[in-house]
Amino acid sequence: MAVDEKAVSILDLLAMKQMGEKISCLTAYDASFSQLIDQAGVDVMLVGDSLGMVIQGKITTVSVSVDEMVYHTQCVANARKRAFVIADLPFLSYGTAEMAMKNAAKLMQSAGAQMIKLEGAHLNIIKYLVEFGVPVCAHLGLLPQSINQLGTYKVQGKTRQDAEKIAEDAVKVEQAGASLLILECIPADLAAEISKSLSIPVIGIGAGIYCDGQVLVLYDMLGISLGKRPKFSHNFMQTANNIPSAIQQYHQAVKLSKFPTAQHSY
Ligand code: KIV
Repeated sequence: MAVDEKAVSILDLLAMKQMGEKISCLTAYDASFSQLIDQAGVDVMLVGDSLGMVIQGKITTVSVSVDEMVYHTQCVANARKRAFVIADLPFLSYGTAEMAMKNAAKLMQSAGAQMIKLEGAHLNIIKYLVEFGVPVCAHLGLLPQSINQLGTYKVQGKTRQDAEKIAEDAVKVEQAGASLLILECIPADLAAEISKSLSIPVIGIGAGIYCDGQVLVLYDMLGISLGKRPKFSHNFMQTANNIPSAIQQYHQAVKLSKFPTAQHSY
């Protein structure tokens, strides 16, 4: 399938939501995969701090540093032609507005990210970054950086109280100026309600089919991650002859609303 050569912008992502076109997103950590993902036509590449687990072999994302994020974001941005690049602010790198700004500057100015992502409804930090022209992707639901508080990676928003809190936070991060929202590991009906109520695009991972887009950890969808693959992921190499074809199949499955199915949802 021919891929539109024009680089994807923040406005294109918003237009996709408005037109009902699903947004495809994959994590990326290096130049070679960046090139393959870009050539497959995937809309967004997320340089996630999941690199701590899938690249470095750690059991959590907690130890990932800003310098490591900068290095991997540079690798991805060097090979990127079309896909929109988002980079994670890692654990404890955005505790104050000044820290968040300093580290966002490294990811955007030195490394080439076009947007930064942070976990949780940190409204003042979001407002501060946005005021200075930093586009922000918020991340709600399961927050992997908080694993040592949570104790385990599990579905969030299952009680009415928790679901209401996530839905309220989603509205607040949009009002604070976030341009995008990632919802991780929450019931599909809650993610559907949030996606419908917000004007900004909502990208899900383990959040059901009704989000405006989907993201997976690249190595999970290639079936090469260490340890057990999460229920919400799918190994696209099972039906592909090679890596470019698996990435293409994922992209198409997202665009055609064929992924995720009920078996990947909560
Ligand atoms: O770090 C990451 O890869 C992420 C995704 C799981 C959304 O935050």
